[in-house]
Amino acid sequence: YRNLRVALLGGGSVGAQVARLLLEQGPELANRVGATLELVGVAVRDVNAERTVDLPRELFTTNAEELILGADIVIELMGGIEPARSHILLAISSGADVVTANKALLALHGPELFAAANQVGAQINYEAAVAGAIPIVRPLRESLAGDQVKRILGIVNGTTNFILDRMDTEGSSLEDALAEATALGYAEADPTADIGGFDAAQKAAILASLAFHTAVPLASVYREGIELVTPAQIESARKAGYVVKLLAICERVTDENGVDGVSARVYPAMVPRSHPLAAVHGANNAVFVEAESAGSLMFYGAGAGGVETASAVLGDVVSIARRHVAGGPGVAASSYAALPVFDIGRVTTRY
Ligand code: NAP
Ligand code: HSE
Repeated sequence: YRNLRVALLGGGSVGAQVARLLLEQGPELANRVGATLELVGVAVRDVNAERTVDLPRELFTTNAEELILGADIVIELMGGIEPARSHILLAISSGADVVTANKALLALHGPELFAAANQVGAQINYEAAVAGAIPIVRPLRESLAGDQVKRILGIVNGTTNFILDRMDTEGSSLEDALAEATALGYAEADPTADIGGFDAAQKAAILASLAFHTAVPLASVYREGIELVTPAQIESARKAGYVVKLLAICERVTDENGVDGVSARVYPAMVPRSHPLAAVHGANNAVFVEAESAGSLMFYGAGAGGVETASAVLGDVVSIARRHVAGGPGVAASSYAALPVFDIGRVTTRY
């Protein structure tokens, strides 16, 4: 097998799980990819900090640049704008491909990063940047690339969905529910990003850019958070047959002069209890896509959480690694030989 060197920047909620999975599932991933994925190190701020996952001490370093310069694939899971942006640019210029979950960075500096990557033929994968574990970036970028997306309605922030759901189903206060969401690793380092709708707005900018093949700047996304949503409002919505959800709405619109364009906006909205989005509970997310030919599609699942998000990150890593091995996005032949196939006849499956 060829060996691919993987540098991990960040060892927090998501990063620690990615490191664990890379170490635990190394042989299986190697078989799927046709190359070993060697975790060469994890860059953090404090190498002595308590970690949620038990990882070999010698992996940790504060020298991110050194890790990047020796890597084939750089996984950025630090969050924030700097130094994440400079690290990704360094990775690209030194010949590495990049995986990131950093929607804040992509929503602000996506065009700069993608241009830098295009210039040298590097790849940036970011499935985990929108809706955690749910595959939505690749479906919009690839599967629906031949269709016309008309509208996207998304519950794209797990923390606020968790809070609104707790307020609706258990009468919790916003503060108590936020403390719970933070303890479960759903909230951003600064939870104002969640509560204020900033995180959802970043994801809306990314979704709208993908869906409408247009760079949608974060500054043009209308945004309201859930700070002012009261238990009384949730109660009266319930009595009227609605549930309050923080929605990201991206759609094609025509202005008063007949000019076609797009709109992206985020605000707490009254969703009829009969709509599929009303049934999205806890920290789950859902993205409801309305397309010209495909009709309505819904992508649903865990929108936040360390290990759930790590799944999407690793999918991006495998995809890049396969490209390294096969010279394209094809599936390495060894994938098909990894497991035996059993004929177990007719077995009752519970759904
Ligand atoms: P986190 O728990 O706060 O972890 C951040 C990690 O990055 C920590 O290990 C921290 O080091 C390290 N770090 C931060 N700044 C650094 C710097 N300047 N130099 C070196 N290391 C630095 O964050 P997270 O929840 O894992 O999120 C990571 C990324 O994934 C973010 O972009 C976030 O938006 C995105 N994301 C998160 C989730 C989720 O459910 N948590 C879901 C989807 C996407 P120390 O450990 O030493 O402090
Ligand atoms: N804080 C984010 C959320 C993490 O709650 O959805 C996933 O992007």
